[in-house]
Amino acid sequence: MSTTPASPTVLRAPVSGTAKSRKRRPFLVDLYSTAVGKKYAMAISGIAMMGFVLFHMIGNLKMYQGEAALNHYAEFLKELLYPLAPKGAVLWILRATLFGMLVLHLHSAWSLTRLNRRARAVRYQGPRDYQVANFASRTMRWTGIIVFVYLVWHLLDLTFGVVNGAEGEYVRAEVYDNVVRSFDRPLVSGFYIFANILLGIHLFHGVWSIFQSLGWNNPRFNSWRRGLAAGFATVVVVGNVSFPVAVLAGIVG
Ligand code: HEM
Repeated sequence: MSTTPASPTVLRAPVSGTAKSRKRRPFLVDLYSTAVGKKYAMAISGIAMMGFVLFHMIGNLKMYQGEAALNHYAEFLKELLYPLAPKGAVLWILRATLFGMLVLHLHSAWSLTRLNRRARAVRYQGPRDYQVANFASRTMRWTGIIVFVYLVWHLLDLTFGVVNGAEGEYVRAEVYDNVVRSFDRPLVSGFYIFANILLGIHLFHGVWSIFQSLGWNNPRFNSWRRGLAAGFATVVVVGNVSFPVAVLAGIVG
């Protein structure tokens, strides 16, 4: 008895089984509705923000060259590509992109967590096997939330000046003075140091995970991956933590 061959007209199914509807949607929206798509979104937005964090730290090193150098650098950022583009235009495009990346990162993290919870309706009954999950990977949500709270404080402190000294002391263009006034308060410096160490832990696991999310996880590269993750996180943390320490120690001020 012969078996009937499968029908040749196969409709395109959603990218993965996690997609909700079979209605045709733009490819990227369809992809984002899947766990794989959300992981891609998380990885790409993470890479963009890592680029920002690294260059932000490198730029801030200007404070070791003195007040004029740091203030001039802040002014230079506003004049990127001027007069080709209007003053401030490139900076605003970069800010909008960064903000978009942050929203995408937070949304994909949140919806991946929901997807995972739904996939595992019954919670783990026994202790988890933590051999494959280290401290950094288990604390991603908490380090992420604390770094986000830190970011809000940081913007209120050094970008908007709402929590930076007495009224009238904060002057937008006087970046160096604003930084010194902020870090002169040990409690604020302590918070910066704490949050930046957590940022480092978040970055360590983040860099490591990018390769997993993008499917480049050949075990042969694991030691190289670990080295890159540790190196990147260390550079960012050491640079960022050095600023409040330098102000408290009187090296910058
Ligand atoms: C101790 C380390 C840090 C120092 C000294 C520092 C310093 C500054 C300063 C002075 C500004 C205002 C610049 C201006 O008004 O021209 C600023 C803005 C900003 N910082 Fe930081 N920062 C640090 C760490 C971080 C970290 C870890 C993040 C991200 C998690 C971050 C994200 C931002 C963002 C998004 C802005 C707004 C940029 C803009 O509007 O152009 N900073 N920072």
